[in-house]
Amino acid sequence: MTALLEAKNLSKEFVKTEGFFSRTRSSIQALDNISISIKKGITLAVVGESGSGKSTLAKSLIRLVEIDKGSIIFKDKNIRTINGEELKRTRKNIQMIFQDPYASLNPRMKIIKIMEEPLKIHDIGDSAMQYSKILSMIKRVGLVEGDLLKYPHQFSGGQRQRIGIARALILEPELVICDEPVSALDVSVQAQIVQLLKSLQKEFGLTYLFITHDLRIVRHIADEVIVMKDGKLIEQGKTDIIFSKPKTKYTKELLASIPGNLSKRK
Ligand SMILES: Nc1ncnc2c1ncn2[C@@H]1O[C@H](COP(=O)(O)OP(=O)(O)OP(=O)(O)O)[C@@H](O)[C@H]1O
Ligand SMILES: [Mg+2]
Repeated sequence: MTALLEAKNLSKEFVKTEGFFSRTRSSIQALDNISISIKKGITLAVVGESGSGKSTLAKSLIRLVEIDKGSIIFKDKNIRTINGEELKRTRKNIQMIFQDPYASLNPRMKIIKIMEEPLKIHDIGDSAMQYSKILSMIKRVGLVEGDLLKYPHQFSGGQRQRIGIARALILEPELVICDEPVSALDVSVQAQIVQLLKSLQKEFGLTYLFITHDLRIVRHIADEVIVMKDGKLIEQGKTDIIFSKPKTKYTKELLASIPGNLSKRK
């Protein structure tokens, strides 16, 4: 199977200056020589404790974070060196869904405007075509036409994430990066959103990079898993193999921390 995205030897160091007047500087290696490959049509989960570099990895793939070293090839294009129209086209093809849909939806914009914005930026269709695209997408994620005239604060957390998903998918991307898309939601709502993401993947043939610290969700949604720690990739493989035969102590500990996990009883 061919890789949709292939990232090699990614490194990123952040330098922090402590305090306002202080000259002490500390640096953190957020990505330490990481290589990943995402096959078309699969879900690759990224797990690891807070601060292990998961979001930095995600952001580096769409150049929201500029890496220090490494190469990122998406559909035979080197993401690090393209610019202008080519970068714009590639960004259309890789969309991101964030943890906090409220923070990522402009509170002053009605849903219709939020949904129109990406179509306008990429100059897709006339306004009648844009409206019909928006309407079918918003219905597909479980909302109704009347919701288009509301503002983000008029929705529940789960509904807001449905809007975030609709906005990401309106551009028909091939790769969708989900950074903790359900961790801010109630458990019952989490399951519904994960189900929605799964059915959308099937319908549109999407490829997911799915960041989560919840291994129960990994088991449910992921084909393959990578485990990160301190900016390093410490384990990778097919989901069932990682769950049944974890190699590192760290992964074993992550697995043991799942409530009611069967592997604990072995
Ligand atoms: N813009 C930044 N400036 C300085 N340091 C940063 C920046 N972004 C991330 N870091 C640091 O890089 C490390 C990795 O952060 P990152 O957000 O990628 O972790 P994460 O695995 O996504 O964590 P979480 O599970 O809490 O979201 C952390 O130590 C973080 O403090
Ligand atoms: Mg993060």
